[in-house]
Amino acid sequence: MAVPTEVLWERDPHTAAKHTLLRRYLSAWFPIMAKQFRDTGITFFDGFAGPGEYTNAQESSPAIAMEQALRSEVSRWGTRTRLVFVEKHRGRAEHLTNLLDARFPITSRPSGLVMRVHPGRCSDLFGQTIAEVDGWDGPVFANLDGWGVDTDYEIVQRIARQQSSEVLVTFEDQFFIRFANGEQQAGERVFGHSDWRRVDRLPTAEKKPFLLGLYREGLHSAGFVYVLTFEMIDEGGHSLHLFFGTTNKVAVEKFKDGLWEVDGVSGQKFRDPRDPNQMSFDIQNPNFTPLESRILDLLGRRDHNMAELREDALLETIYKKTHVKRVVDKLIGQSRVDKMSTGPSHADRVFRLADPKLF
Ligand SMILES: C[S@@+](CC[C@H](N)C(=O)[O-])C[C@H]1O[C@@H](n2cnc3c(N)ncnc32)[C@H](O)[C@@H]1O
Repeated sequence: MAVPTEVLWERDPHTAAKHTLLRRYLSAWFPIMAKQFRDTGITFFDGFAGPGEYTNAQESSPAIAMEQALRSEVSRWGTRTRLVFVEKHRGRAEHLTNLLDARFPITSRPSGLVMRVHPGRCSDLFGQTIAEVDGWDGPVFANLDGWGVDTDYEIVQRIARQQSSEVLVTFEDQFFIRFANGEQQAGERVFGHSDWRRVDRLPTAEKKPFLLGLYREGLHSAGFVYVLTFEMIDEGGHSLHLFFGTTNKVAVEKFKDGLWEVDGVSGQKFRDPRDPNQMSFDIQNPNFTPLESRILDLLGRRDHNMAELREDALLETIYKKTHVKRVVDKLIGQSRVDKMSTGPSHADRVFRLADPKLF
């Protein structure tokens, strides 16, 4: 997508899918965190906030966050709830301020809720704007939804150091593939080092997996124990990668539940970036082949029980834990996998790769 220059622009299908996912996740995040962090308060930070709406849609990350923060399940805890929005384009920042004030009038906001819009660059302002509302006293959820090439690694690192905090980063590999020779400063800022430039010397097929793997490693080394990544592709073939970094396994499950509930967005396809065959599928009509290959690969290395296979699916693939049983059952039915022991519970059942048969 060409980067829009006007205040409002048209929302594309994968942005719509991202909004559905964000709403689903924040509908769990706000009430759970508000209950758990009553002492410190919680912060939603939107570093690339946008104008608050589109020419064809009234949804946006700031509007979704406000709507979720104002729910009674959140406000009933009386937890200090901070929403900090940063937007570089002055016209968009103004539009957002007016829109949020009109849609969520100050009189309707609970006393514990603080909302600020700041015009300026995310990397310049994130530290001080969060500090200004005492956001560094507690957990921060940072939505870093720029054009995919503009989230500085130091922001991710700082959020990772903050206990119980999470990031959702939009990442655009094509930019770094195309401009590995020219836009080196952008790459250095996003990756935090110059290794990414090796992409320039790699064969075409290896470029994208290399960059996605490197970015994922970067989130891990920043301190996010769990990193979930997936790709959304719209009808025009435009792709968008999202990286979710957290230190909590339940958060991964909640985020994935949201992902699998994204629906009704026409032509939206999903892809597991780590599937070597790069198969895409409609979430309503999923393709489980990459999960089958992953399970066969794991069992090729050693026996695994159901609990281990489910855990691997949760943390290392785009699939949910609940998808594993049906895939294993199918592989057993095809005599590609054997069940070795029944175990006291479902989770203890051990599986092994079946011996190859000729007939
Ligand atoms: C993809 S849009 C954000 C969409 C918004 N999060 C939503 O869900 O509706 C990216 C926004 O980031 C802004 N932007 C670009 N670079 C920025 C920077 N360095 N700091 C802050 N905002 C920036 C752009 O002006 C644009 O409005």
